[in-house]
Amino acid sequence: MNPAPDNELSIRRYRQRAVNYDESAQFTMPLRRRAIALLRLAPGQVVLDVGAGTGLSYELLRNEVGPQGRVLAFEQSPEMFAQAQARVAGAGWTNVWHANVPAETVVLPQAADAVLFNYVHDISRTPAAVACIMRQVKPGARVAIAGMKFFPWWTGPLNLLAWLKNRPYNARAADLWRPWDIVESHCQAFEWQSTQFGMGYIGHGTAAAHPPTRLRRLP
Ligand SMILES: C[S@@+](CC[C@H](N)C(=O)[O-])C[C@H]1O[C@@H](n2cnc3c(N)ncnc32)[C@H](O)[C@@H]1O
Repeated sequence: MNPAPDNELSIRRYRQRAVNYDESAQFTMPLRRRAIALLRLAPGQVVLDVGAGTGLSYELLRNEVGPQGRVLAFEQSPEMFAQAQARVAGAGWTNVWHANVPAETVVLPQAADAVLFNYVHDISRTPAAVACIMRQVKPGARVAIAGMKFFPWWTGPLNLLAWLKNRPYNARAADLWRPWDIVESHCQAFEWQSTQFGMGYIGHGTAAAHPPTRLRRLP
């Protein structure tokens, strides 16, 4: 099946970004670490890294779940995923399962105890993608999300900067006012706060129970 236009544009963008991605992400590593800490992972747990990119978070997540735990991940860009594969092969990690597939159709090998949305604006702004992911985590799973957002509205033109910074990466650079709210709608006890002087956010909660599957009336 051909990728949808947004997925295709994102794949094209990351084809160019993949080579220098890890270097460019160093500035935002502290926020990634904070989001991972909010998952309150325990040894033996299964954690899902959504849109894992080059696998920058794999080691941090493995450190938390330990050798008995498991990291699940997926990533749609072939170039980003190739780096994630090289990272796993290079380190010889055997408890990382990852696949080069889009969020809208990913099928996980098991339900996750926790789910991380680190800098995955295109995924977190796509209701079908978030629904597909949240269906596959355990009810009550810890959820953490971090990324960029617009500054408060009264800062006016500053938001041009936020939009320009997002554009080279995201197919959906707009919609930065409350980028967490689709994920929030799948959670209970969700809280968020501003970071990086208002240009970033971090949020966390627990996955709500899945809505019951509608029974089909028999003829
Ligand atoms: C800014 S990077 C973040 C990567 C990683 N989470 C991190 O913290 O470094 C966003 C990633 O989301 C991926 N992505 C965007 N849309 C996607 C989709 N629909 N399904 C899977 N991956 C997607 C991109 O290819 C890219 O690797």
